[in-house]
Amino acid sequence: MLEKIDHLGIAVHSIAEARLFYEQTLGLTCEHEEEVASQQVRTAFFTVGETHIELLEPTSEDCAVAKFLANRGEGIHHVAYACDDIKSHLAQARASGCQLIHETPIIGAGGKQVAFLHPKSSHGVLTELCSGETP
Ligand code: CO
Repeated sequence: MLEKIDHLGIAVHSIAEARLFYEQTLGLTCEHEEEVASQQVRTAFFTVGETHIELLEPTSEDCAVAKFLANRGEGIHHVAYACDDIKSHLAQARASGCQLIHETPIIGAGGKQVAFLHPKSSHGVLTELCSGETP
């Protein structure tokens, strides 16, 4: 089952600039920065209660986050749900007619297993399923 909202992914042009809002305005602490080669992004994580904020800065001009920024500008990029069994959730999503971006989980930030559901099937919200510990 889905356990909680694990994190919100927020697309930004520059983590160095965006983190000032989270640190100075909201008073959060950046706990982890990581480049995720599989997604061509640099990430920075902040924690609020049981949920994280994941800032996403593209590291190439033709990756998905760069295209998102070009089309829609900075803002919420995806909602990630922590789940106990990502493969069974993917199977359930497929069986329900949902378009999948990943047929099988890939390795995301922090070595977690992640998979994305297409926003065309989720009313405009790119949806991530993840399992494993957030860094
Ligand atoms: Co994410």
